[in-house]
Amino acid sequence: MELETIMRPGLQGVIAAETRLSRPDGQRGVLVIAGYWLERIAPYATFEEMVYLLWHDRLPTAVELATFKAELAEKRALPPIAEDILRAAAAQKQPVMDALRMAAGTLNLVVDAADAQAAAQVAVAAFPTIVASYWRLLQGEALIAPRADLSHAANYLYMLTGDVPDADAVRALETYLNTVIDHGFNASTFTARVIASTQSDMIAAVVGAIGALKGPLHGGAPGPALDMVFEIGTPENAEPVIRAKLERGERLMGFGHRVYKVRDPRADVLNAAAERFFVGERAEFYALVRHVEQVALDLLEEYKPGRSLKTNVEFYTALVLHGIGLPTDLFSPTFAISRVGGWTAHALEHYASGRIIRPLAQYTGETERRWVPITERD
Ligand code: CMC
Repeated sequence: MELETIMRPGLQGVIAAETRLSRPDGQRGVLVIAGYWLERIAPYATFEEMVYLLWHDRLPTAVELATFKAELAEKRALPPIAEDILRAAAAQKQPVMDALRMAAGTLNLVVDAADAQAAAQVAVAAFPTIVASYWRLLQGEALIAPRADLSHAANYLYMLTGDVPDADAVRALETYLNTVIDHGFNASTFTARVIASTQSDMIAAVVGAIGALKGPLHGGAPGPALDMVFEIGTPENAEPVIRAKLERGERLMGFGHRVYKVRDPRADVLNAAAERFFVGERAEFYALVRHVEQVALDLLEEYKPGRSLKTNVEFYTALVLHGIGLPTDLFSPTFAISRVGGWTAHALEHYASGRIIRPLAQYTGETERRWVPITERD
């Protein structure tokens, strides 16, 4: 059978495989995760329940959840070589995402590469340990061992600071982690699926995905989005600063989306989670953020009319993570701590039923060049 060949730059609008994991509906501004509208599950579930849901296509019972949490908790420790790598990376002040990628590669040492489900557990369990350990090394602080009696989210915050976090911070972090765990064929998930589609191993898939997530057009946006608010500083500065950026042809981080042409539904869930942190003295900062958002939307309409550029998840990611006290350098790594749940689910799904992902390229080069020996070349 002759297949129609058609070029779609950036694969825009192309359906590359089937999934039961999540459906971002760009026209209606709705995100369904394994059957649940995002706003009906993200603010209530624990992160462990969300991962279980993606891996097993149903929520766990209480007994299953307890077992699953214990299985993850016992896989939090890193292979010793991972710590050596993190120390070497910290000595060079490598970005956290790069350190995460380097250390994640060592997880093959503690799991049988052929056991994709076990490797998925190791990856999800170990990411917070890698990120928190590296962060403490960067600060010149002693490492904090994971605590098996704390939840995934609480343990991450504990390993960063040494303090058991309060319930509000844990709830806000879980809401964030649940909100960004999966999102159709975003670039990093697609990367994981391409790797899994070759029947390469699970750790290879997540390591590749980290590389894709790092870029500023994908998971690298929330830090710069908050930096823009800091740079603006006061409401009067919003208009001139943002206008100057657009005049220079810069992109505003935290705005625009390939799929959502109406408001990103994740932004609303995160805004609701963030609000509680910005009361009292911090209310002014929240008001500034909302003002910056509105000015940005107005100016995007002026400079990019008709492109339907709306606030995306990264803008409110910045607000939630700032609200619970994480530094901007940890925003993208914390995104990875969540999204690894989705990457592994997609890899498992693809192992079960997918074909090798192998699109075509439109060749635009020469076709009739003749070989010239090196001695005769100009
Ligand atoms: N600021 C200014 N202009 C923009 C922006 C922006 N944030 N986003 C898109 N545009 C313009 C772009 O310059 C282009 O203009 P023109 O038609 O004159 O060439 C037009 O809008 C369409 O943009 P595009 O690059 O063709 O759209 P895309 O679907 O390829 O890109 C995007 C989507 C998210 C990469 C882009 O909107 C962007 O760069 N946003 C800023 C970075 C960001 O916030 N990334 C996080 C995305 S959400 C989470 C995730 O996926 O990880």
